[in-house]
Amino acid sequence: MNRLQRLVQSSIGAKIAIATTGLLLFAFVIVHLLGNLQLYRGRDAMNSYAETLQHLGPLLWLARLILLGLFLSHLVLGFRLYRANRLARGEEDYYVKRSAHRDDLRRQKAKAAAMMLASGAVILLFVLYHLMHFTLGWIQPSAHHLTETLPDGSTRHDVYGMVIAGFQNPINVFVYVPAMLLLGWHLFHGAVSVLQTLGLTHPVWRPVAEKVLWFLVAFVVVGNCFIPLSILLGFGPQGG
Ligand code: HEM
Repeated sequence: MNRLQRLVQSSIGAKIAIATTGLLLFAFVIVHLLGNLQLYRGRDAMNSYAETLQHLGPLLWLARLILLGLFLSHLVLGFRLYRANRLARGEEDYYVKRSAHRDDLRRQKAKAAAMMLASGAVILLFVLYHLMHFTLGWIQPSAHHLTETLPDGSTRHDVYGMVIAGFQNPINVFVYVPAMLLLGWHLFHGAVSVLQTLGLTHPVWRPVAEKVLWFLVAFVVVGNCFIPLSILLGFGPQGG
């Protein structure tokens, strides 16, 4: 076993790996949202953006592979750490007697860990639904086959029309909005525990870091909820 494998398999190593993969996934979600906001600049801006990504060819596939690797590592390491902590807690409870206050703290930590696992599982289901919806086109095949005809007579994938048709259907909005609220919860609690792992307890910097996190999470949640809601309720981009 090499040094990196030993580090990842130790509890602190696993925490650092979960924190790093989590932060990179958080960055992806922000960049993805910034791209999706092209919807508000119109059909041409959105479809040109999607076309530019498609034209990246092998680079796009490399980015997809990296994203998949980050997602799977985050998932597997998160699940393993949760299980290891649960086992350790069970053994400690058997041998150690604690004050009611410390017992309470431990119960709160165990509850937060269970919520991180449960919200992570829901986010995984959401991502699978999302891929079947917009990338594979299995949920609304007719919207996935929409094309835009350009002035020179050529055609391209109408991602703008696909997203609008997607969110004109209330079922999709009812899937996306609660998933985005859970994603926000998961991102915030995950990022706060990264600060803990990094040992950021400085009385000035800790509150500043938490405010920055609040802002980024609010941006992700509000932005990702605003897109489906504005389309469904008719005050966002329209035109199918
Ligand atoms: C309202 C919110 C969202 C919208 C409108 C949206 C839109 C889209 C669209 C249109 C695509 C397909 C692009 C194409 O094939 O041309 C896509 C792909 C994808 N989205 Fe989202 N997305 C949203 C939120 C999210 C969130 C919150 C996540 C992650 C938690 C996410 C993860 C992904 C992934 C992993 C892909 C596949 C990327 C690829 O393989 O190219 N999306 N999204």
